[in-house]
Amino acid sequence: MFSYFSVFKDESKLDINYVPPSLPHRKAQLELLNQFFRFTIESPGRMTQRVLITGRIGTGKTVLSQHFGLGVTRKAQQRNVNLHYVHVNCRECKGSFFMILQRVILRFYPNFPKRGYSAEELLQTLMQILDEKNAYVILALDELEALIRSEGSNPIYSLTRIQEERLKNAQRLSLIGILREPQDLNLLDPSARSTLQRNIIHLKEYLKPQLRDILEDRVTWSFKHDTVPSQTLDLIAEAATLEGGDARYAIELLWRSGKYADTERSKEVLPEHVRKATSSVYPVVRKDTIAELSLHEKLFLLGVARRFKLTDAAHISIGEAEEAYAIVCEEHDEKRRKHTQLWKYAKVLSALDIIETQPSSLGHRGKTTLISLPRIPASELERELSRVLRTEAA
Ligand SMILES: Nc1ncnc2c1ncn2[C@@H]1O[C@H](COP(=O)(O)OP(=O)(O)OP(=O)(O)O)[C@@H](O)[C@H]1O
Ligand SMILES: [Mg+2]
Repeated sequence: MFSYFSVFKDESKLDINYVPPSLPHRKAQLELLNQFFRFTIESPGRMTQRVLITGRIGTGKTVLSQHFGLGVTRKAQQRNVNLHYVHVNCRECKGSFFMILQRVILRFYPNFPKRGYSAEELLQTLMQILDEKNAYVILALDELEALIRSEGSNPIYSLTRIQEERLKNAQRLSLIGILREPQDLNLLDPSARSTLQRNIIHLKEYLKPQLRDILEDRVTWSFKHDTVPSQTLDLIAEAATLEGGDARYAIELLWRSGKYADTERSKEVLPEHVRKATSSVYPVVRKDTIAELSLHEKLFLLGVARRFKLTDAAHISIGEAEEAYAIVCEEHDEKRRKHTQLWKYAKVLSALDIIETQPSSLGHRGKTTLISLPRIPASELERELSRVLRTEAA
């Protein structure tokens, strides 16, 4: 049977729930988590810990916590400590403390009855189970804002109080709270807030080179050798930086770009595949924005689009754009505008988020402005511009 080539080696490594074996640029934060929870292995039962992880969308909060969880339970096992890391997403539990506790208990007793208890009773039951099994739990409450918004301070109180009431017994339940906006803590009473605020690990948005490293690392697990050229990674990292340093967006874009490459039976994932993938993830360039451009802005942009159709490069220089624009002007019987004017068009188009401009880096001959098209496929842009120009001419 004839089988088609695929750029992928293992797509599951691009899945949002996959926990990679290494986390580039989160080493320090991982180390901090390990420090905070060292006692769980060295002297389990002596104390408990509460840590908060904050950061914007796609900064790696969930994956950091899970990666830590895998490592810490492995180390505990080696020392015969019965430690469990339980990761619960509060939003998936509809912000219900009851459902969250139920999930934790089901980890120990999969047949535990689903009804007939209050949240408080479930918490008591959980502690009994942990005593019986001589077990310890690090409970990670992901998307904690969902719980806080629906039940306020009570769950946090209960979780803290249950340990304080048992001071003579072994301390068994530690917490990791994960949330995007630290302001959500303001919904809590000051005392509940202060129990969480003691140890905060804040994850900053990734910068472009960091996203690039993350992508490069992931490519080795998921793509065949030499199928993702360096400039493709540059373009994805650039697009994800514009999305606010979001690694989820970067990885999703990488996966979709691979899908487009496969659809077109390409042996490599090229910048144009990224542009197609971008516009399928979020249609960011609106058609009316294009229609409202001045005639020469449109002609210039058409030149840019055509130039990108001809090249596999992620960037073109303003000089190359100018040459393409000159040809477009000839076709449309328009007198071409001067270089300084084109430079202004580039600024306008960049302000409208249609193109991106950046000064050329060292190594490029002479200093120039580079243009990239991270959000829309060149072919789609060309089609739309030609359509608008035709209607205007008619
Ligand atoms: N440092 C990193 N190294 C490797 N992969 C990473 C890293 N940071 C994030 N990722 C990956 O990026 C994606 C998003 O990360 P994650 O889900 O942890 O973000 P988050 O901060 O929890 O976002 P949200 O606020 O939307 O829940 C995941 O696929 C994750 O594996
Ligand atoms: Mg998350």
